[in-house]
Amino acid sequence: MLRVTAALATVVLVPILMMAAPPTPPPPGQTPQARPGNIELATFPAEWTYKPGGQAPSAEHGMVASNCALATEAGVEILKAGGNAVDASVAVGFALAVAYPEAGNLGGGGYAVVRTSDGRSAAIDYRETAPAQASRDMFIGPGGKPTEASLVGHRASGVPGSVAGLLALLEKHGTLPRARVMAPAIRLARKGFVVDEIFRTSIGQNAALIKRFAGRELFLPNGTPPDVGTRIVQADLASTLERVAKLGPAGFYSGPVAAAVEAEMTRGNGTITAADLATYKPVWRTPIASTYRGYGLIAMPPSSSGGITLVETLNILETWTDIAPWGSAQALHRLTSAFQRAFVDRNATLGDPDFVTLPLARMASKEYARQLRAGIAADRATPTRTLAPVPREGRETTNYVVVDRWGSAVATTTTINSLYGSGVWVPGAGFFLNNEMDDFAVQPGTPNQFGLVQGESNAIAPGRRMLSAMAPTIVLDRNGQVLMLVGGRGGPRIITAVVQAIVNVIDYRMSLADAVGAPRIHHQALPDMIDYEKGGVPADIVDALKAMGYATQPGGTGSLTAIKRVATGWEGLFDPRKHGLAGGY
Ligand code: GLY
Repeated sequence: MLRVTAALATVVLVPILMMAAPPTPPPPGQTPQARPGNIELATFPAEWTYKPGGQAPSAEHGMVASNCALATEAGVEILKAGGNAVDASVAVGFALAVAYPEAGNLGGGGYAVVRTSDGRSAAIDYRETAPAQASRDMFIGPGGKPTEASLVGHRASGVPGSVAGLLALLEKHGTLPRARVMAPAIRLARKGFVVDEIFRTSIGQNAALIKRFAGRELFLPNGTPPDVGTRIVQADLASTLERVAKLGPAGFYSGPVAAAVEAEMTRGNGTITAADLATYKPVWRTPIASTYRGYGLIAMPPSSSGGITLVETLNILETWTDIAPWGSAQALHRLTSAFQRAFVDRNATLGDPDFVTLPLARMASKEYARQLRAGIAADRATPTRTLAPVPREGRETTNYVVVDRWGSAVATTTTINSLYGSGVWVPGAGFFLNNEMDDFAVQPGTPNQFGLVQGESNAIAPGRRMLSAMAPTIVLDRNGQVLMLVGGRGGPRIITAVVQAIVNVIDYRMSLADAVGAPRIHHQALPDMIDYEKGGVPADIVDALKAMGYATQPGGTGSLTAIKRVATGWEGLFDPRKHGLAGGY
């Protein structure tokens, strides 16, 4: 794994080629000791893939962690050029759009939470919106069943928000000129970058989707992904980025780029028009401010469900003043019961706050958490169906986190929903469009691609933002200083993964590497099932959970990127379950 040593005060940026690099174990034969900063050594099940005692890369002044080495390098370049965390985040966002097309984007949307060096916080919502032509039942087929069109092809896309969101963020909280912050992305597109194994594999695994649309010419020359070691140049995308750098939002939301989107929509019977693009606006929101056991939380409010669902879960967990041993049946029962109740509320009530009234005060209330806790038996599962009348998000999002030398911090999650979004490529402008329309409850009461069953509050309506699970989160220590930034990919599994990383740090005093590398579970109310990572929950604990009445199955989790303050500066990490790079200076 890459290490950046603060002592050298230099950045060492080496792309990580392994799909799942485990945290570095302690040297053989050496007994790891409890480490400074109240860190305790974690104990993971013997069968678990990643060993405790791992070390995350660290840096003294500033740190960037993302799922793409080239994007992390872009962020570090901007930090070293004197930019703050916002400048660097925006640079990472645009670089991801070039070098990480599976999830980085110009054709999608996202959310960022910001903590400025003077202690203020902010949140920006640049989620896609439903086009003016969208309608509640647009994805219901003749047989009354949802069609594939919310996932693949032109009608699957919401109006993209990423360019407007990143530029609004830069304008309000950044310090460097747009052209400087976008320079690394423009360079990557104009001069190209060398294809590595991660990139080639990603294209190969998604070739069936990509080849249906115009992106095939760039990404599947001769019908196959570009070879490792070849250079991929994206001239159309470079021109789009140069226009944006010169003109600001107008470079994307009007003129030739908007015209190219509209022309592609017309060609494919899609719904986004130039007028939809011209009227798109990102929204500054008041971040959710909460606490967990005296630590501060700055979380993303709706239109993402991520922050409020995370806060409700942590509030329920906080009602137990004793900490159950990590990984015990008791600890997993408490986690599951809390997830289940928070997801019931999420799925039934949340949607776009500009269209529906949301019970946010109740969901964030400690008193409400105590009421919910009262309904949790010490040793019995509660079937989801008995909790509330629940009437009915992609998983391939990407998160990045940045801190700077002045102590400001930005956590950002962005997505085109599924990998490569709807598959639709905008010829002449050079980017994929999202398939975010599937994050609406396309048929309230019926599961979406994640098995999430959501309600009327998230039904399709023109101009509305579809509910998200993205959960970029900043944790403050008891003195109000930034302690940790975390967020992830994985649709609803983002929320459960972020909660477990926070709990691992606060309740179990784990190092960042252990907190992220620890095995996780997932429960989203419906299906009423605990998914646990294979090898992460020993058989006797699975049996104990079954005896409590839980259905269990091996399953996946989200993947995280995170930064944590340490005595020498910052540690940063991408999830060993995925690829990426953490680096700083
Ligand atoms: N598209 C995944 C999410 O917004 O949660």
